[in-house]
Amino acid sequence: MTLWSGRFTSSMDSTLWDLSESYSFDHVLYAHDIAGSRAHVQGLRAAGLLTEDECALLTATLDEVESEFDRGIFVRDPNDEDIHMAIERRATELAGEVGAKIHTARSRNDQVATTLRLFTRDALTEVARRCLALVDALVEVGGRNADAYLPGYTHLQRAQPVLLSHHLQAHAWSVLRDVDRLLDARDRLGVSPLGAGALAGTSLPIQPSLPASILGFAEPFANSMDAVSDRDFVAETLFCVALAGIHLSRMGEELVLWTTSEFNFATLGDAFTTGSSMLPQKKNSDVAELARGKSGRLVGNLTGLLVTLKGLPLSYNRDLQEDKEPLFDSVRQVLLVLSAITGAYQSMTFHAEVAEAAADDQFLVAIDIAESLVEDGMAFRQAHELVGRLVGDAVAKGRSFADVVLDDPATQRFAALFDPGVALARRCSPGASGPAASAVQLQRLADAQRAASNRL
Ligand code: ARG
Repeated sequence: MTLWSGRFTSSMDSTLWDLSESYSFDHVLYAHDIAGSRAHVQGLRAAGLLTEDECALLTATLDEVESEFDRGIFVRDPNDEDIHMAIERRATELAGEVGAKIHTARSRNDQVATTLRLFTRDALTEVARRCLALVDALVEVGGRNADAYLPGYTHLQRAQPVLLSHHLQAHAWSVLRDVDRLLDARDRLGVSPLGAGALAGTSLPIQPSLPASILGFAEPFANSMDAVSDRDFVAETLFCVALAGIHLSRMGEELVLWTTSEFNFATLGDAFTTGSSMLPQKKNSDVAELARGKSGRLVGNLTGLLVTLKGLPLSYNRDLQEDKEPLFDSVRQVLLVLSAITGAYQSMTFHAEVAEAAADDQFLVAIDIAESLVEDGMAFRQAHELVGRLVGDAVAKGRSFADVVLDDPATQRFAALFDPGVALARRCSPGASGPAASAVQLQRLADAQRAASNRL
């Protein structure tokens, strides 16, 4: 018998039970559900619906149920449909008669919405925390290879030299935006649904503001129907996680490229690579491929939930039970990827000599010659045209670009630009990829890191 079986004459068909039960996946919500129930019990006490003694007994009972879960000794009854029913059933067994009062002025609809907000709030904090650890690692690896540089690419064609630290910090900025976004979503979910009941509130004299403040929510709901049917916070979390996952995927793709024999810019530590079951020489960057691969699933979870929500009339519909598995999955997966990618970067050996040789490609100096002509008074479009012709000449005649530049009276005074590292040092405008600008950026990044961790 379930706790709601009063009006039914036969028990549920087993196929419906299998379809309907959610304990198998929502048991992970136990601590958050019990926190919500503790606050609810306080609200009932304040409303005069429980005596002081009843309130104390129910609170102690909830603590005991939580400890059974913590110790892994909680036993599910075959009739426990979901985590909320399981906890109420067990609390009633332990507390006796007063257990029957715990669900006063409450429905599973406002209960599950409250529980899920509490879970999501913690999940967002944890994902943001791991994102910040990744930012730390990106900055640390850049600092450890402070002078190393590589070609920066556009269209995956060599474009201009960039410091490795500048490149890694580009990723760090995207992850810092993830942190801000995750914490913004956390701020927005701070509305307590508890007290909305099934959909329309209650005739009993409860004050939703009390459990709201006990639970650390900024305010109670304004509209009971919105309170039980709003899953914007889940959709938003799935989006924030999916976008973070896409950033991780882009990092993964790059690590895959960098660690190929063709690029050979970097090697990942043995602890972060895998072998082949057949080919003894292989050392694969699976960690980076999985970072790339998992992003598909994160986007899928977001898309799935949006589709679930799109046709729902107000207010609670059982479809909403489908919010949980995608949320749990996305949070779990992104945490796994964040930790593994952080470790992979920390384990990385950067082959500066290979990357710098690629960045010292003579053609990457073309823009510096053009800009030097500009400094001497030539209009940029003319300078671009002139240097473009020299590039064309070098390509057509199979000559070194430097030789062509040095043979031309218009450009022969720029020989020094071809010295290794010179083009990099010249990238000095604010936010640019050279050492001077990078030092300023590092300070700005440190400020942003500090501001983000203060929000945790
Ligand atoms: N397990 C359900 C969920 O996740 C709890 C709410 C059930 N409410 C109901 N009216 N059947 O949404």
